[in-house]
Amino acid sequence: MTNTAVIDRLPAPPPSDAAGGLTLRQAVPADIPECGRILFEAFATLARAHGFPPDFPTVAVATGCVRGLITNAGFHGVVAERDGHIVGSTFLDERSTIAAIGPVSVDPAAQDGRVGRVLMGAMLERAAERHAPGVRLVQISYHNRSLSLYAKLGFDVRETFAAMHGEPLRLTQPGYAVRVATPADEAACNALCVRVHGHDRAGEVGPAIAKGKAKVVERLGRITGYTTGIGYFNHSVAETNDDLYAMIGTATHLMQPGIVVPLDNPELFRWCLAHGLRVFFVMNLMAIGLYQEPRGAYLASVGY
Ligand SMILES: CC(C)(COP(=O)(O)OP(=O)(O)OC[C@H]1O[C@@H](n2cnc3c(N)ncnc32)[C@H](O)[C@@H]1OP(=O)(O)O)[C@@H](O)C(=O)NCCC(=O)NCCS
Repeated sequence: MTNTAVIDRLPAPPPSDAAGGLTLRQAVPADIPECGRILFEAFATLARAHGFPPDFPTVAVATGCVRGLITNAGFHGVVAERDGHIVGSTFLDERSTIAAIGPVSVDPAAQDGRVGRVLMGAMLERAAERHAPGVRLVQISYHNRSLSLYAKLGFDVRETFAAMHGEPLRLTQPGYAVRVATPADEAACNALCVRVHGHDRAGEVGPAIAKGKAKVVERLGRITGYTTGIGYFNHSVAETNDDLYAMIGTATHLMQPGIVVPLDNPELFRWCLAHGLRVFFVMNLMAIGLYQEPRGAYLASVGY
């Protein structure tokens, strides 16, 4: 597998009539209710068909997610319209070095009609324009269509994750002090991420510290792990699994869908199982461009 540059992997544009009169434009706040409804319906329809609980439990939760994305300048949102009606949307996380696509949602009535392909193409073009060295996404493994579409667009499956949830563990690890991160910790957190992943996630770390959500693990006076907040939308990086256990063990929420556990870390996966966490669903990390096999322990976010 190679780290092909994003620009080399841009898909061929679809034939002009392929998406049947589709137009794309940047998402604006007025789109929030309709994009929220479509986001809920797209995922719930799919989950129901496979006997899974929906990713977004209600339209209100999905709408809140869309609101958070459209009103955050770190994300680029695009909606697809046909005959003046929104039929889908997607977002590009532009906060850090690696760009991340998601969520992508197409109205169930319009699915399998190439709307998703056109939206994804727009995200890849945007990432290429911004010279992102890599683009990633996390795909729900039971969704054959998205898996196939993303592979056709050039994404490689790099990792498999289990989203795991449960009751707070209330565990502490002697010698592993978990405390709220301060701005003085930011450089050490970013350096740790570079050591483990080959790039930082500074655009997420800084705001999480500013909001008081980020935590660090200290061992013998050194920062050996950090988290932007244990949970589905946040990430954690650490030197060892023990550092991760210290952060997961003291988390006050491990709610559905839960933490995103890399399955090529079997010790971590079994530790989560042994502590009563349940698998919500399995997902694939798919990537174009820069990718380094992790050199440490980590929990992914729903982005990558
Ligand atoms: C995933 C999603 C965004 C894709 O959008 P879409 O408009 O339905 O998909 P498209 O028609 O553009 O593309 C589907 C492609 O997969 C192919 N495909 C579909 N099912 C397939 C299967 N079982 N095996 C192989 N290929 C398959 C289609 O032939 C098509 O390829 P083509 O463009 O080369 O013809 C949309 O289905 C959706 O909203 N799903 C629910 C929410 C979701 O899962 N979002 C993604 C999160 S991971």
